[in-house]
Amino acid sequence: MKILLLGSGGREHALAWKIAQSDKCEKLYIAPGNAGTALVGENVNIKADDFDNIKMFVLRNRVQMVVVGPEDPLVKGIYDYFLNDAELKDIPVIGPSKKGAVLEGSKDFAKGFMQRHGIPTAAYRTFTAATLEEGFSFLKSLRPPYVLKADGLCAGKGVLILPTLEEAEQTLRDMLGAASPSEGSPRESPMFGDASSRVVIEEFLDGIECSVFVLTDGNSYKILPEAKDYKRIGEGDTGLNTGGMGSVSPVPFATKEWMQKVEKRIIRPTVEGLKAEGIDYKGFIFFGLINVDGEPKVIEYNVRMGDPETETVMLRLKSDLVDLFEGVATGTLAEREVVFDERAAVCVMLVSGGYPRAYEKGFPITGLEDVWGSIVFHAGTAMKDGDLVTAGGRVMAVSSYGKDKEDALQKSFANAKLIQFHGKNFRRDIGKDL
Ligand code: AMP
Ligand code: GLY
Repeated sequence: MKILLLGSGGREHALAWKIAQSDKCEKLYIAPGNAGTALVGENVNIKADDFDNIKMFVLRNRVQMVVVGPEDPLVKGIYDYFLNDAELKDIPVIGPSKKGAVLEGSKDFAKGFMQRHGIPTAAYRTFTAATLEEGFSFLKSLRPPYVLKADGLCAGKGVLILPTLEEAEQTLRDMLGAASPSEGSPRESPMFGDASSRVVIEEFLDGIECSVFVLTDGNSYKILPEAKDYKRIGEGDTGLNTGGMGSVSPVPFATKEWMQKVEKRIIRPTVEGLKAEGIDYKGFIFFGLINVDGEPKVIEYNVRMGDPETETVMLRLKSDLVDLFEGVATGTLAEREVVFDERAAVCVMLVSGGYPRAYEKGFPITGLEDVWGSIVFHAGTAMKDGDLVTAGGRVMAVSSYGKDKEDALQKSFANAKLIQFHGKNFRRDIGKDL
């Protein structure tokens, strides 16, 4: 089968690495890809949301399946674009329909969906500039800290957690673009543009997070290995949020018993809820969960795999991923098997100096030839005049297997030190909290 994978990050290199191992994959293209994906397939210089050029490429190269890495093309409706096109309609897209992608594209929709289907999550209400005063009253009814979320997509930056009521009120005003009473009108533009013209305020949940992934064909589902990611830039979970600084799988508190609760209370009602609401969903569902005193609750849904979780989840998936994708595409997922690798897997993300604030790109990356015992997934890399250079904030994920997480971490940390580029930074405490 000829497969086109969309995206360009560490997640996509990990997916490409896994897809390329399948006997069912005859040819793998990645659009646009990075310097790492070029090692396992052929990069194509088309943006992941450039549907018209994707169409031309797919038809010209007889691509038989499209796998979507990031949320953006899904939220923009790539699934529906294929389905509604006479020439493309028989080519399966692994990813939900535009309606399904709203689970990630709108926090308000996701919260409403969970409420409708009795799925455990934090108590919440949604506000607009017109209901600012009600928002203030709702904030007063909550205990600190206060969780404010822009309704729409903000590249992972739309969630703000404020320690005091005053800061929460000011932030709500800024997010909604509502002028403060002392300033009077006129109204300012919302902090995150359209994405924060609606704001979800929710109860703060105290616990440890865990990412759970399933693949569904809309009827049945398969649970993939779970992982924990490390979002903050600083050791001990301090400093600004990033796209993710590392991940670990398995997660010790995700015991068989805990996962049974997750399946019964969260996964099954989600898949059944999508079906009951007539939402076409054939792809990954990422459950961002939090463990509150042993009880799993949903923090968020994403409609794609996680990054950098994929860089460990793919290591722990023994089954043929393309076979699973075929099951998704043909509605026969129930007949396929998911087998986990018993080993632990971890990844340590090497990032550019300054990230997640401003950083420079284009620095040469050296030392990869000395890496031993790890798999290096590229995230923000590119080739420039024949040299491998940095091309993003997150540069590469050093992923390793181990008999346990300590064993795997030792390999990733040792190799993280061998790879060199100007300003390189990584967290030395990945997995140490578990
Ligand atoms: P989200 O983009 O919804 O995943 O939120 C980003 C991060 O904010 C999450 O990974 C959590 O660490 C944190 N967060 C979101 N919602 C809550 C909540 N209700 N209680 C505590 N932390 C939260
Ligand atoms: N690791 C979190 C995410 O991919 O959104």
